[in-house]
Amino acid sequence: MENQNWTTGNIPDQKGRIIVVTGASSGIGFETAKALAEKNARVIIAVRNEGKGRNAVQKLKNENDNVQAEFMLIDLADLESVKGFAEKFKAKFDQLDLLINNAGVMIPPYSRTKDEFELQFGTNHLGHFALTGLLLDVIQKTNNSRIVNVSSSAHRYGNINFDDLNWGKRSYRKWRAYGDSKIANLYFTYELQRKFEQSGVDIIAAAAHPGITMTDLQRHSKIIEFFSGFVAMKSKQGALPTLRAAVDESARSGDYFGPDGFQQMRGFPIKVRSNKLSYNIEIAKKLWDVSEKLTGVTYKF
Ligand SMILES: NC(=O)c1ccc[n+]([C@@H]2O[C@H](COP(=O)([O-])OP(=O)(O)OC[C@H]3O[C@@H](n4cnc5c(N)ncnc54)[C@H](OP(=O)(O)O)[C@@H]3O)[C@@H](O)[C@H]2O)c1
Repeated sequence: MENQNWTTGNIPDQKGRIIVVTGASSGIGFETAKALAEKNARVIIAVRNEGKGRNAVQKLKNENDNVQAEFMLIDLADLESVKGFAEKFKAKFDQLDLLINNAGVMIPPYSRTKDEFELQFGTNHLGHFALTGLLLDVIQKTNNSRIVNVSSSAHRYGNINFDDLNWGKRSYRKWRAYGDSKIANLYFTYELQRKFEQSGVDIIAAAAHPGITMTDLQRHSKIIEFFSGFVAMKSKQGALPTLRAAVDESARSGDYFGPDGFQQMRGFPIKVRSNKLSYNIEIAKKLWDVSEKLTGVTYKF
């Protein structure tokens, strides 16, 4: 599987496939959607801002008029909106080949989602947990389908405090909260993979991280933005681990992809390992149960 320098040239034809990419109005999500649309997939750009969605579709069509791309609105920080998206999607489509849970926020000032969850945990983890559960029936009906969650090397700062998930009792540490949301993406992926295996469900659940990539994500920190200018990759390169997790035929459920360079900061995508804590089965199970309770979305396999 470790062929050198995996690029978009390795993406097989995606004709006939329907793909949802959350947060595809910019950065890694946009480049992920673009690469898949250029390989003939029908791509749904799932975004919270109508203008940005329209603009992203237009940008894709400007480069290639034949791409099949459209946008649908979803606010991952609002469970009603997530539910509405899933309902609209299922009314329109009866297959979903690939769900890429990419949208994210990093180190915003303390704030809460519509449903009163801390913003990073609520958006990055709970919103995608709910979306995946609500779309699972259509994903399950589709042959050869996959779910890809976009995590981060910052998962290493994560260690979920189940007694204070929304930072109501502790003073807010924004990096720790980001790390918690990103290790949650991995617990979710690995537990999903175990549940699929136990129930004989033939869906791949994989994860990826883009190393350090220059995008709008750094908007809340001028210092990070400044240093990223020296080390960060362009979004097109940063999208490669996600793309490999999404389409590489040798990828297996539970795989995690990241760049092959120093400290996984830059490079071409290969299979990597996340930290030891992220493979803890008890924590993953606990997070799963809490996430079902908090979102009101119960998974049916
Ligand atoms: N860039 C890096 O170095 C890096 C490193 C590690 C991991 N990551 C991960 O990569 C993913 C993509 O990030 P990026 O770097 O491409 O940043 P980005 O350009 O800021 O893209 C993030 C996307 O998520 C969307 N989003 C944020 N909150 C949302 C919500 N409530 N509902 C719907 N969409 C929402 C944003 O929409 P708006 O445009 O409307 O804000 C934007 O389209 C994230 O999961 C991030 O954690 C990035």
